Amino acid sequence: MNVVLLGPPASGKGTQAKLLADRGFLHLSTGDMLRAERNACTDLGCRIATALDAGELVSDELVTELIRQRLSGQHVNVVFDGYPRTVKQAASLDSLLASFAQTVDVAIALTVDTHLLLSRMTKRYCEQGRSDDNPDSLRRRLQSYDEMTSQLFPYYRKRGVLVEIDGMPQVDVVSSQIAAHIGRYQ
Ligand code: AP5
Ligand code: MG
Repeated sequence: MNVVLLGPPASGKGTQAKLLADRGFLHLSTGDMLRAERNACTDLGCRIATALDAGELVSDELVTELIRQRLSGQHVNVVFDGYPRTVKQAASLDSLLASFAQTVDVAIALTVDTHLLLSRMTKRYCEQGRSDDNPDSLRRRLQSYDEMTSQLFPYYRKRGVLVEIDGMPQVDVVSSQIAAHIGRYQ
């Protein structure tokens, strides 16, 4: 099955996707892929570094190509973390999956209030030093989430695959809620 994880910055997408990976899901995070390019100082990494640090979205074509390179249709369970983020990306993902006779089975949206997002991000900056975990970047990331990614709610709701889950409780509480929803499809 194909699971899309939606949620604002620091809502717990990566945390929950890793737990699904422990259960055998292929975890595809465009943020992790882009940071790996940046840290390896590849040509692509240099081109996207400024956008990444500023919390701006990189191009739809670029992230879709990163996903396309990793999808073969042979994986039974895939979790998409941070992709799609725009309606254009969602349509591209639909086409990619359709080429394997697959579809998005469930889109899980994690909801967390802004105050808690900021405190999680501050804590993560102290632990990991992620270069986009700063107030200016957070503001832009929240803005692009509100303006672009929130359009995916009606997109997936119309298809009956959107599930909203409270991302505020402890990690294991959120993961059991997700497991309960996914279990209905497996
Ligand atoms: P991306 O890496 O996807 O960043 P993001 O969406 O801002 O989300 P984060 O990774 O910051 O948070 P998360 O939701 O994964 O939370 P996490 O589990 O880490 O994207 C980065 C950038 O790349 C974008 O700004 C853009 O420039 C570019 N990009 C990526 N994808 C793109 C796309 N599709 N199109 C265009 N551009 C793209 O948790 C956060 C912290 O909270 C952690 O420390 C964690 O331990 C803690 N935590 C998690 N859950 C809980 C909990 N339940 N209780 C307490 N603490 C918790
Ligand atoms: Mg993440």
